[in-house]
Amino acid sequence: MQDYELSNGVIYRGDCLDGLRELAENSITLGFTSPPYFNAVNYEEHVEKVQGNTDHWEREEMSYDDYQDFLIDRFEEAFRVTKPGGHTIINISPVHWQDERVPLPFHLVGWMEDIGWKFKEDIIWEKPVAKDRRSGVLLQNPYPGYYYPSVVAEYILVFQKEADNNDKNNIYWDRTEEEKEKNQIDLDDYQGEKSKNVWKIRQVAPGENEHPAPFPRDLAKRVIELYSYQDDTVMDIFAGSGQTLLAAQDLDREFTGFETQQEYVEYAKDRIIDENSQMTLEDI
Ligand SMILES: C[S@@+](CC[C@H](N)C(=O)[O-])C[C@H]1O[C@@H](n2cnc3c(N)ncnc32)[C@H](O)[C@@H]1O
Repeated sequence: MQDYELSNGVIYRGDCLDGLRELAENSITLGFTSPPYFNAVNYEEHVEKVQGNTDHWEREEMSYDDYQDFLIDRFEEAFRVTKPGGHTIINISPVHWQDERVPLPFHLVGWMEDIGWKFKEDIIWEKPVAKDRRSGVLLQNPYPGYYYPSVVAEYILVFQKEADNNDKNNIYWDRTEEEKEKNQIDLDDYQGEKSKNVWKIRQVAPGENEHPAPFPRDLAKRVIELYSYQDDTVMDIFAGSGQTLLAAQDLDREFTGFETQQEYVEYAKDRIIDENSQMTLEDI
């Protein structure tokens, strides 16, 4: 597996399953990721399209059972490498497939619990703008049974690798007062939004990012700030354009990322190096 060592972390190009198997047990404090959505985007074809080799994307054929196994295998390994008390946080939403809305987040909770992850929180990420126009159906047919609300939200599901409070490996065990002080969370706007499980964060605008499905860096920042301390290692097993890795760098965390597509790895790496080199001495 090819790796790119950067000053705050590393990006591996390849299947995260292979990469995770190489990582030491109990070595990661926090995972934040958004998995490839079941049949929603074929990333290889997207890369081909960007390179001008094809003019269309096709949905990759994969059965739901195979997709379930794909996720379980990877989140099982993520469980092994996560430190006791650490979290994996997953951005996910129902997907449309063959005229059905597949309740992926709700299935995922069961799969994660079977692995050993403890379900902690369901946060709604609300986007100010809907991409689809489903609600138009009722406008054309204003009768019961024609209600298809436009989708403006995704889920942020929080899972923990539980540990005893007196387990010395627990990520919360030996935080010093100095560390707590340094990582104190700004509560100025806490009652405004952060205290609730609906987070309104603007999605990435078209053209702002070369990846077809990035989540906002502000979303990653909020997760990282709430669930890790400075110098902890934050991991994104489906790193895409590197939004989690950039957010980790912004917040002085170390990062580990995995991504299969060379194009996205290069893009993430270049952005990380570029922003790192723009940091002034005052930032350090
Ligand atoms: C939903 S996207 C993640 C986007 C990312 N959160 C961002 O903000 O740019 C999922 C990514 O997983 C990558 N991927 C798919 N299968 C993978 C695997 N087995 N290991 C690592 N990455 C994979 C895809 O190429 C895609 O870039």
